[in-house]
Amino acid sequence: MFNLDKFDIKLETDFIGRNFIYTDEIGSTNSELLAGKQQYKKTGAVYLAEKQLEGKGRKNRVWNSAKGLNLTFSILLTKETISEINISHINLAASLAVSTAIENLCQLKTELKWPNDVLIEKKKVAGILIETSIKGKSVDRAVVGIGINLNQIAFQGEFNLEPTSLKLELRMEIDRENILAEILNIFEEMLIELEQNPANVIDDWRNKCQMIGDKITITENDKIIRGIFHDIDDEGYLLLKVNNDIEKIHFGDVSLI
Ligand code: BTN
Repeated sequence: MFNLDKFDIKLETDFIGRNFIYTDEIGSTNSELLAGKQQYKKTGAVYLAEKQLEGKGRKNRVWNSAKGLNLTFSILLTKETISEINISHINLAASLAVSTAIENLCQLKTELKWPNDVLIEKKKVAGILIETSIKGKSVDRAVVGIGINLNQIAFQGEFNLEPTSLKLELRMEIDRENILAEILNIFEEMLIELEQNPANVIDDWRNKCQMIGDKITITENDKIIRGIFHDIDDEGYLLLKVNNDIEKIHFGDVSLI
């Protein structure tokens, strides 16, 4: 069981997680918040489920997570919070918040894989799926869905990146309440930083990405593009060097293999 009191004591935010919804089972926490239901439409609402029956990953993949052992949650951001912020930046900030929280509390070294995977020793410990609801020409709501493997030690299925968990890496049980509060505390600070000085967040993200300079392969539906991971730009796009040209790659469409 998730201990709400223990979580609450550690939460230091103004608005992220102040409306907290905790449930045993749900289809997908992202879908739930994206639906814009009356009970939880305040910016910063966090929806945590012990088990998702239809957990979604990026690129129409499935996110499977054992019940009660890990963290599967979503954060709702409405236009009052994000009108001045670019969604690619939120994507980078979310992965940076997860990676920083893990480093702070577990003393493990993490690495970021563009656009938003968190890795330990090249294995995936967390993934993020951002979904938006558009009204007119602007984003009305964004939902940041985060899945982190904490105490699961066996994974079934096929993965494009080998999974790991904090327990597998540390060989001890991990406290879910502390990690969740730490992520939300850091994420809120990063949202403020993104409004004032997004370059700082991009720089921090870049420093945790070991792929810059590597030969990479990008898949976009059936298309495969090979090149060198040149950098990420001010807007969070991946800059791919193909021969002598630089192509800008947007996170929504692609995956790296
Ligand atoms: C990925 O790496 O492909 C992204 C995984 C995102 C999983 C999280 S778990 C909570 C939230 N609800 C979902 O249905 N998906 C995200």
